Amino acid sequence: MVSFRGLRDDVYRRPLATALERLGIGAGWRCVDVGAGGGDVSVALAEVVGQTGRVYAVDSDPFARDEVARAAAAHSQVLAITQAAEDLILPELVDLAFCRFLLLHVKDPALVVARMAGAVRPGGWVVAQEPITSAGRLGGRPLSMADAPHPDVGALLPALVRDAGLRLVDAWAEAPAGIGPGPVSTYLATLTGVDPGDEPIVLPPLVTAIGRAR
Ligand SMILES: C[S@@+](CC[C@H](N)C(=O)[O-])C[C@H]1O[C@@H](n2cnc3c(N)ncnc32)[C@H](O)[C@@H]1O
Repeated sequence: MVSFRGLRDDVYRRPLATALERLGIGAGWRCVDVGAGGGDVSVALAEVVGQTGRVYAVDSDPFARDEVARAAAAHSQVLAITQAAEDLILPELVDLAFCRFLLLHVKDPALVVARMAGAVRPGGWVVAQEPITSAGRLGGRPLSMADAPHPDVGALLPALVRDAGLRLVDAWAEAPAGIGPGPVSTYLATLTGVDPGDEPIVLPPLVTAIGRAR
């Protein structure tokens, strides 16, 4: 059993842990975390692949590089790279290309999944975890994310993975839910700036799609 000690205790930790366990990821794996942001997932991957592995933390925002460097200070196997996902080029083919909450923000999700597919070795894995924002609910009302170009891209993930030439191995959706003070309420308030008060919350389901390179 792989232990995900580095996994940030965020409300979406379960789908990430489930996906990584399903891959059988372990020491020595080469990975890329595309759209790495602050590096939470990169650090989690680094803990699993160990010193003999490598994690490329790729993000188009140069500030993310500093954040990842801080978050992964204890993990020399994490290399932060400033690069657009659409231009993804790594020094080597990797065992796993991963993204979470990235494709909703990019102009062309199909292009990015294709670039991720091109970054893995034959038999390697592509894992994408993306939301269906409008399926989230606050007091029964749909959530929205007007500034993202593809807020519901999670609903398209199985097709995006298949159309990138990958074999779709598994796909599922999970949505954290809650009411009153707690991590789900705090997450929503941070994301939207709206205090959910005592209204029931269903956060946007996160669709996970696991593809395998032929
Ligand atoms: C919502 S954050 C997700 C961070 C992280 N993946 C997570 O799940 O915690 C989205 C990240 O994607 C990055 N991003 C957006 N468009 C990108 C692109 N075209 N290429 C690479 N990174 C991009 C942003 O800079 C941001 O850091």
